[in-house]
Amino acid sequence: MRRAPARPSLRIGIVTLAPEMFGSVLKAGLIGRAIRAGLLEVAFANPRDHSRDAHRRVDARPYGGGPGMVLMPGPVDAAIRQFAKRGSWIVGLSPRGRPFSGRAASRLSRKKQFVLVCGRYEGLDERVCASFDEEISIGDYVLSGGEIAAMAVLDAVARLVPGAMGNASSSDEESFAGGLLEYPQYTRPRVWSGKRVPAVLLSGNHARIEAWRRRRSLELTRRLRPDLLLARKSSKV
Ligand code: ADE
Repeated sequence: MRRAPARPSLRIGIVTLAPEMFGSVLKAGLIGRAIRAGLLEVAFANPRDHSRDAHRRVDARPYGGGPGMVLMPGPVDAAIRQFAKRGSWIVGLSPRGRPFSGRAASRLSRKKQFVLVCGRYEGLDERVCASFDEEISIGDYVLSGGEIAAMAVLDAVARLVPGAMGNASSSDEESFAGGLLEYPQYTRPRVWSGKRVPAVLLSGNHARIEAWRRRRSLELTRRLRPDLLLARKSSKV
């Protein structure tokens, strides 16, 4: 059996009122394997454990009025501080954040540690957001909390941690790595439901296969995500 490294390559702290939501995500699949192999460490801090209230309340009505409740800054900040040694990168999850991307996942995967802060209710007190190094959104819709967004970030980052994916080149070839969608994949059987696997993939000619994949990748991107091609062009100027 391979021995786990003495120190994980990446430590992720998660600040959340609902750590139980992460249970199966941390056990199953690639994330579970990376944790068991000692490549990745995930720990939780719950603002409720830092409440000064007899009822362990962490939220209050917004000043100025309005619907819903806002998380108070004190308990959230105290939970962040459970992890945030000097230099720790703090990421808030919020629909107002910068759209998450493969590039952001790759940047985060190269850190030694970072903290994901999940908001709840109507949001976080702005004074605690001021301590974040960045805010990330996973899309232009509002989730009931940052936990599902944190799981998406966790998954996208974990698979880029060295050793987590087994086959290092697969993360280079997949969708978005070169700003394009991935080429289509086929496996057995050669004919399924009357549909054949493209003959070039059975040819054994690696140069032709590579050229075909590149062409298909461009075609798919043009059809399904033309915005990616525009973004590529402007980043090359
Ligand atoms: N919290 C609520 N909605 C969110 C979103 N779209 N992305 C990140 N965090 C969120």
